[in-house]
Amino acid sequence: MNGDPFQETMYIEENAYKNDMVSLIFSLKEKVGALAKVLRIFEEKGINLTHIESRPSRVNKNEYEFFINLHSKNTPALEEITKTLRNEIGATVHELSRKKKKDAVPWFPRTIQELDRFANQILSYGAELDADHPGFKDPVYRVRRKEFADIAYNYRHGQPIPKVTYTEEEKKTWSIVFKELKTLYPTYACYEHNHVFPLLEKYCGYREDNIPQLEDVSRFLQSCTGFRLRPVAGLLSSRDFLAGLAFRVFHSTQYIRHGSRPMYTPEPDVCHELLGHVPLFADLSFAQFSQEIGLASLGAPDEYIEKLATVYWFTVEFGLCKEDDAIKAYGAGLLSSYGELQYCLSDKPEIQPLNLEKTASQKYPVTEFQPIYYVAESFKNAKEKVRKFASTIPRPFSVRYNPYTQRIEVLDNAKQLKNLAESISSEIGTLCSALKKIE
Ligand SMILES: [Fe+2]
Repeated sequence: MNGDPFQETMYIEENAYKNDMVSLIFSLKEKVGALAKVLRIFEEKGINLTHIESRPSRVNKNEYEFFINLHSKNTPALEEITKTLRNEIGATVHELSRKKKKDAVPWFPRTIQELDRFANQILSYGAELDADHPGFKDPVYRVRRKEFADIAYNYRHGQPIPKVTYTEEEKKTWSIVFKELKTLYPTYACYEHNHVFPLLEKYCGYREDNIPQLEDVSRFLQSCTGFRLRPVAGLLSSRDFLAGLAFRVFHSTQYIRHGSRPMYTPEPDVCHELLGHVPLFADLSFAQFSQEIGLASLGAPDEYIEKLATVYWFTVEFGLCKEDDAIKAYGAGLLSSYGELQYCLSDKPEIQPLNLEKTASQKYPVTEFQPIYYVAESFKNAKEKVRKFASTIPRPFSVRYNPYTQRIEVLDNAKQLKNLAESISSEIGTLCSALKKIE
């Protein structure tokens, strides 16, 4: 009977909110008089429905789904009505609202295809440059940036990422960055980065004279950890960007920084993504850690999104980790910056153990070297910390990613929990059988 209450959020009508409306979706078993019974409940409370529509349920064949609008002045009575619908009629009910009110859950993608929606809600288009951007006065560079932004804007999940023929100038910029950073990695980069890098050289065209293609890299990552890249046309909100990680999807730029200043970029570019992020996403523990941040963000209130984005900043972007007695860099912002990679492991910045209560509220500059870095014991340990932190986020459900269906499962009903228990039990069976064989 339980459907997939969040799936229907595509029904959210902005107009409804402008007109101060509240929307509900509920599903009912196909039975004569079932809807009449429901309508009577509203009638008894003196509530006028301003809109109603129905369709066969996509989840349960013998059910119908109803979408209704009512004026928000009726909100106080809704709690009781929802309870009656659930308990007496056996309906699955979901209240849709983007308004900040108690218990309203912000929309989040439930299927990997729904990440396509983010393409239309970027905060700024890739061709818009600030006045202090090195490429601001270069019309050729700006046209080029628009070409990249258009590729990403038109990209849809499941398509191969279009390959780009990089110009000689772009390749020259890449080669300078590649050559310089590569000399630092053996000393400053973490084990995982140094371990994966030769594989990227072997399989993905990482060379001084070649800018690797996102599609090749994405395929490689999928074979390692299931992570994939998707091109992004501009700046995403933290909520959308983090949501991608829940699906093991990393939004990546494809353009390169301006050639006039090869060792500087005010924003992420393909050097940052390919040299900083990609090697780590090929590591299983790191991939799990990153996904954990993404899962924690789904449906979280705004203030927690900010905290998670800060955690992301101090780990995935600027994280340090312990390695035997040494400290190494794993953050992509460090691994793609010739200057900061050396600075972060000098005696100049402050270095603190990763502590999410503190780290999540730490203020940070975005245009200069970080004054403080946080050191993780290990990615596994960092993942546990995120999981613990996630349990403090006020949301009325837990989530889990199902890699077979590429969907987020909301664990808020007995059926979902039973399915999870069955799947764990089957895994335990496999484990026991394997253990017996190696005894
Ligand atoms: Fe980044």
